[in-house]
Amino acid sequence: MKTQNILVSPSILSADHANIQTEIEKINTCGADWIHVDIMDGVFVPNMSFGLPIVKAVKKHAKLPLDVHLMMVNPQNYAQRYIDAGADILTIHYEAENHLHRAVWQIKNAGVKAGVALNPATPISLLEEIIQDLDLVLIMTVNPGFGGQKFIENSYSKIMRCKDLILKRNSSALIEVDGGVDNLNAKQLADAGVDVLVAGSYVFGAKDYAENVKLLKVK
Ligand code: DX5
Ligand code: ZN
Repeated sequence: MKTQNILVSPSILSADHANIQTEIEKINTCGADWIHVDIMDGVFVPNMSFGLPIVKAVKKHAKLPLDVHLMMVNPQNYAQRYIDAGADILTIHYEAENHLHRAVWQIKNAGVKAGVALNPATPISLLEEIIQDLDLVLIMTVNPGFGGQKFIENSYSKIMRCKDLILKRNSSALIEVDGGVDNLNAKQLADAGVDVLVAGSYVFGAKDYAENVKLLKVK
């Protein structure tokens, strides 16, 4: 996957879940590119979100690709079910999977894009032997588990190290960041090499989703 422009993937963790159809319809037409869907198991992260039935419901109304972020232990056990539920991009955590190569290829062989997410303390260098197989690297810019947290400032150098690795290995992986993204850090993130911005509270906390999505894409 190669891209020139910054893609925006609003995280529905911050959406009004009682009106999920309306929320998805608003996201379909606000200028966003993907829909970010956070799955939390209460084990890998100290929080729970939602599971397969909600992903299926979202898929019914979504006109954009579903960017599913699995924050769960042993994601390989659930990958196929999230693919069947409608994931177009499926991202699993480096820290949660003992057999990353097998899990990544299980996802790719099912015909969807495969991503690997790194927690803030997990170094980019651990991706050296898998980067050429990835469609996406998700760099967590907060500790995963909750929306509305503060962006971790030293993420910029990590993004640049990731970009270097991608170029060095001739990988086509996109770089996505997740956590604390807003209009104040979007440009610096893009300059550091980010392709996809996930934003939860910044989009869903806005009166006008389109306006805030536009501000994230300002160059
Ligand atoms: C955090 C989730 C994020 C979250 C981002 O664990 O993975 O996707 O929804 O929310 P904001 O943009 O509010 O930090
Ligand atoms: Zn996420």
